[in-house]
Amino acid sequence: MNSRRAFLKHMSAAALAAGATPSLLTWALPQNQSVDVPGEDGLIVRSFRFVDLETPVEYFNTWLTPVPHFFVRNHMFEPVQLDAQDWRLSVGGELEKPLALTLAELSKLETHTVVNTLECAGNGRSLHRPQVPGVQWGKGAVSTARFSGPRLRDILQRTGIKPTGKHVMFRGLDEVPGKVPPFIRSIPIEKALDADTLIATHMNGSPLTKHHGFPARALVPGWVGAASCKWLTEIKLLESEFVGNFMSPGYRFPNQPVKPGDAVKPEDTHPLTALSVKSVIAGPSDGATVKAGKLAVHGAAWAGEADIAKVEISTDAGTTWTAAKLGHDQAHHAWRLWTYDWKPNKPGDYTILSRATDTQGRTQPATPAWNPSGYLYNAIDQVNVHVA
Ligand code: MTE
Repeated sequence: MNSRRAFLKHMSAAALAAGATPSLLTWALPQNQSVDVPGEDGLIVRSFRFVDLETPVEYFNTWLTPVPHFFVRNHMFEPVQLDAQDWRLSVGGELEKPLALTLAELSKLETHTVVNTLECAGNGRSLHRPQVPGVQWGKGAVSTARFSGPRLRDILQRTGIKPTGKHVMFRGLDEVPGKVPPFIRSIPIEKALDADTLIATHMNGSPLTKHHGFPARALVPGWVGAASCKWLTEIKLLESEFVGNFMSPGYRFPNQPVKPGDAVKPEDTHPLTALSVKSVIAGPSDGATVKAGKLAVHGAAWAGEADIAKVEISTDAGTTWTAAKLGHDQAHHAWRLWTYDWKPNKPGDYTILSRATDTQGRTQPATPAWNPSGYLYNAIDQVNVHVA
């Protein structure tokens, strides 16, 4: 590790330990600086105060994202002390028999595995125009892993669901700074009972790391990442949707298209659920100079609860499109890697575009659906390259 990298690693570890404010640290971090923090490797720091780390798109070259390359999104401090022996998951509310499960009891339940692409609703926020407040994610607040743990529905079937139990609330054990409301959200009972909705304890075959929700997190496949509550401590069945900051005003989308820059009344919004259709070019990198000859353009495409039907590439600024080859690895809630063999026939500057279409017939738009919180950016992706 070179001395600058070692310095940054030291700084980031110290900052995380101290919960330092960004103003103390950003002087050391040029825009898009990648930094190692314990357990993570080469991610882009978007916030130091709470750990918000973005995966560089160049890492979108394996179907499963290695855990140290998996993006991290925290709204507040991670739990300081979390002892697996003392941890309990309480299950209560509108059900017949409330439960409190230890980690050992949870581990004895039948395990199910789901490969899921987890994307933060705010991924791509920095690309919206006009710009909107919030973590200025580039394209990499998204990653894919093999999650495993018991099905939520198996736990709920043990407790018995009352007919009044219509929504399932999750509470995380985050360290709440000052007056910030705790991380609590709910999902409708139908999604909670889906065979792929898990209480995940493992990621890519190993126990969850602290950054990703140890010892257990909700895993709500195909939905915005916010649905998948980390450091889970409580599940509660409710008669109606949970009312709180992370359900409203947080994580809501306008009911109607919005003129960029316009305000939207809360009553004209609905909670975010499933992800949009989207593709990202992982290579060549934006701004790269490449040699003339054969070149593999490659990337990833995903569509939340739908599957990817095709990815098309244009190397002439959108005049003509050719289908990319979809990768062999696939699972219902996971991204597809794709490649396109390109042979630029003369040197010059090129704009490469990628456009995904899913099995629900949705196609990436040329312009994103602007909204005041900058959620669900999914415009056609583009990189500019110079062919030497
Ligand atoms: N759970 C808790 N308890 N606290 C959080 O701040 N962030 C959510 C979700 N679960 C969050 C949480 C958001 S917004 C996202 S995108 C995902 O976790 C990110 O999961 P990851 O950090 O494992 O990538």
